[in-house]
Amino acid sequence: MRHIFIVGIGTGNPEHLTVQAINALNKVDVIFIPSKGAAKAELADVRKDICQRYVTNKAVRFVDYAVPVRQTAERSYVQSVDDWHAQISSTYEQLFEDHMTEGRSAAFLVWGDPSLYDSTIRIVERVKARDRVDLDYSVIPGITSIQALTASHRIPLNLVGKPVQVTTGRRLSESFPAMVETAVVMLDGELAFKRIDDPEAYIYWGAYLGTEDEITIAGRLADVSDRIVATRAAARAKHGWIMDIYLLRKGSDFDDQA
Ligand SMILES: C[S@@+](CC[C@H](N)C(=O)[O-])C[C@H]1O[C@@H](n2cnc3c(N)ncnc32)[C@H](O)[C@@H]1O
Repeated sequence: MRHIFIVGIGTGNPEHLTVQAINALNKVDVIFIPSKGAAKAELADVRKDICQRYVTNKAVRFVDYAVPVRQTAERSYVQSVDDWHAQISSTYEQLFEDHMTEGRSAAFLVWGDPSLYDSTIRIVERVKARDRVDLDYSVIPGITSIQALTASHRIPLNLVGKPVQVTTGRRLSESFPAMVETAVVMLDGELAFKRIDDPEAYIYWGAYLGTEDEITIAGRLADVSDRIVATRAAARAKHGWIMDIYLLRKGSDFDDQA
């Protein structure tokens, strides 16, 4: 049986790597590295930096692979994601067949934590279910962009005793602030916070968290919204890409205890 380690690597700072992750990377036969194109070269560099720093076992081989691009034309969102996962699972299956023999192990380096808005677990499970390659897998947790955001802003994630919703830009308006007082928003290309009209809402925003280019802005949403929009646009133009996340909050600790 082949064994796949799905290793969380944190969100840009090589020091996010856990000892458990370093140990796993040093015991596998192969590390698969995605090549995502020049625009996100910095992200590929983080993976290479991690391997150079921590993989001391000279027997470990590195194999680059091209990640299929998601096709959206003439497909619903669900169909487009499903097709994309099917393509990636074929790519993975081929990697396992070409670069691992029976009894060998390999690792994927997953941005942040593999459980959070990432489909590596789903896709490896899909390959396993197809049963053409005999395999099993383990997941090694990593620091998420949520933790990087709250650490940079030095804030607790939740208000005392209260829930938190993790959502996407597409879904934000369904919940905040009517249903939750803390929402963490990821994968938001639409700047959904601009549609929140609540004078009591606060935002804690961060881009390129954990990297040398990290930017953070916090304040009352109505006061800082325009500054975030302008800063985001300028940073995106400079780098050619952006990864950002934010926490929206309303209320305070113990405000339901009166
Ligand atoms: C596909 S999800 C992957 C999340 C990842 N698995 C995690 O644990 O954070 C990508 C989204 O995560 C957030 N993200 C990831 N890394 C980030 C970073 N370094 N700075 C800001 N946001 C980040 C952004 O919202 C981005 O759109």
